[in-house]
Amino acid sequence: MSVERRVGVGIIGCGNISSQYLKAIRNFPVLEIIAVADMRPEIADKKAAEFGLKAVPVDALLADPKVEIILNLTIPRAHVEVGLRTIAAGKHVYAEKPLGITFAEGKKLADAAKAAGLRLGSAPDTFLGGAHQEARALVDSGAVGDVVGGTAFFACPGHERWHPDPAFYYDVGGGPVLDMGPYYITDLVNLLGPVARVQAMAATPQLERPIYSEPRKGQTMPVKVFTHVAGLLQFKSGAIIQATLSFDVPAHAHLPFELYGSTLSVLVPDPNNFGGELKTRPATEKDWTVVTSKLPYADTSYRSLGLADMAHAILENRPHRASGDLALHVLEVMEAFETAAKTGQSVEITTPVERPAPLSQSVIARAAAS
Ligand SMILES: NC(=O)c1ccc[n+]([C@@H]2O[C@H](COP(=O)([O-])OP(=O)(O)OC[C@H]3O[C@@H](n4cnc5c(N)ncnc54)[C@H](O)[C@@H]3O)[C@@H](O)[C@H]2O)c1
Repeated sequence: MSVERRVGVGIIGCGNISSQYLKAIRNFPVLEIIAVADMRPEIADKKAAEFGLKAVPVDALLADPKVEIILNLTIPRAHVEVGLRTIAAGKHVYAEKPLGITFAEGKKLADAAKAAGLRLGSAPDTFLGGAHQEARALVDSGAVGDVVGGTAFFACPGHERWHPDPAFYYDVGGGPVLDMGPYYITDLVNLLGPVARVQAMAATPQLERPIYSEPRKGQTMPVKVFTHVAGLLQFKSGAIIQATLSFDVPAHAHLPFELYGSTLSVLVPDPNNFGGELKTRPATEKDWTVVTSKLPYADTSYRSLGLADMAHAILENRPHRASGDLALHVLEVMEAFETAAKTGQSVEITTPVERPAPLSQSVIARAAAS
C-alpha cells in the first residue's frame, strides 16, 4: 500500500504487550517506529535489540522532532502521566487501555489534548476487527432489528497464572472491569451507541492472592479492587446488556457476547480478538448461521490497527476511530460499575459519544482488501 508519507511513532513502555505491537506495526506502512523507551532502560535496550530498533531515554524520545505520535504502552497507572507529558511535548498520543484509572484523570488528559489541538487515541482497537465490523454492518443494515438485550461475559481465574508481574491487575487501577471492560464496552458502543446508565454489584472474595507465574511464583499480592463484578448497562437506544467481569471464575461455558434483536439473535465473538465466528439465528430456525467476514483484519492479531487509523486520519484530516472521546465514555461507564456497586444506586453516564465510523469505509480497509 502506498501512503502519502509515513508518520513517526515513538514507543514508551517496552513490557509484555510491546512485542505484539512491534510485530503488528509491520502490517501498516503508514507507521514508522523512530525509537523505543522505558523507565527501565535495560528493558528498552533488550526490546530494541530484538526488533532492530533504537532505544533512547524517555525525555529524548519526547524531544525528538521526528516523533509525531507517542504510543504509550506503560501500565494503567502511568497512562495519564505519560500522556500529559506527551501532550506537553506537542505530540499526539495513542495509549493502551484503559485511558486512565479514574474518570477524572482520563478527562484531564482528554481536555489537555483538546486544548493543545492534539490527537488522543486509545486501545482497544479490536472493535475494528473483521468480525466486529461485520457485526456492526449487520446491526446497521437493520437485519438484526431493534436490539432489546444481550449479555457480555468475561471471566477467568486471574492473570497470576501467566503474567510475569501480575500485581498491577489487583492494585488500584486494576481489576477485571478496568482490564477487560474496555474490550467489551467499546465493542458494545460500536454496535449500540452510547450507554445511558449503569447498575452493578461487586465483590472481592480474596484480599490476598498467590502468584503462580514465574519469576514471582510462591509470593502473594494484596487485592485492592473488586474482582467479581456483575452489572446492567442500559444504552440510550434502550438496549439492556447484562455484563459479568470476573477474575474469580475457575472455568465457565458462557459466550463472550450475545445480542437479542427483534429479528435476529447474534453471537458476537470475543472482543479481545479481531476475528472469530459471528453467528445469527432468527426465531424460525433451529440452527445458527455462521456469517463469514468479508472484511479485512479478521484472522490474525492486528494490535496497532487503531494507531494506524489515527496516523491515516492525521494525514487525511479526518476523525480517528479509536478516539479519546470513545475511551473516556468507556472509562466513565467502567467507573460507574464501581460507584453503582458501592452505593447501590443506578449511575447516569454524562459523556457524549458518537459511534466511530465503520472501518469498511476507510482507506486502510480498501488498501488491505485490494
Ligand atoms: N499483557 C497483555 O497481554 C496486555 C494485553 C492488552 C493490553 N495490555 C495493556 O498494555 C499495558 C501494558 O501492559 P504490559 O502487560 O505490557 O505491562 P508490563 O508491566 O509488562 O510493561 C509496562 C512497561 O512500562 C514501563 N513503565 C511503567 N511506567 C512507566 C513510565 N512512567 N514511564 C516509562 N515507562 C514506564 C515499565 O517499566 C514496563 O516495562 C497495560 O495498560 C495493559 O492493560 C496488556
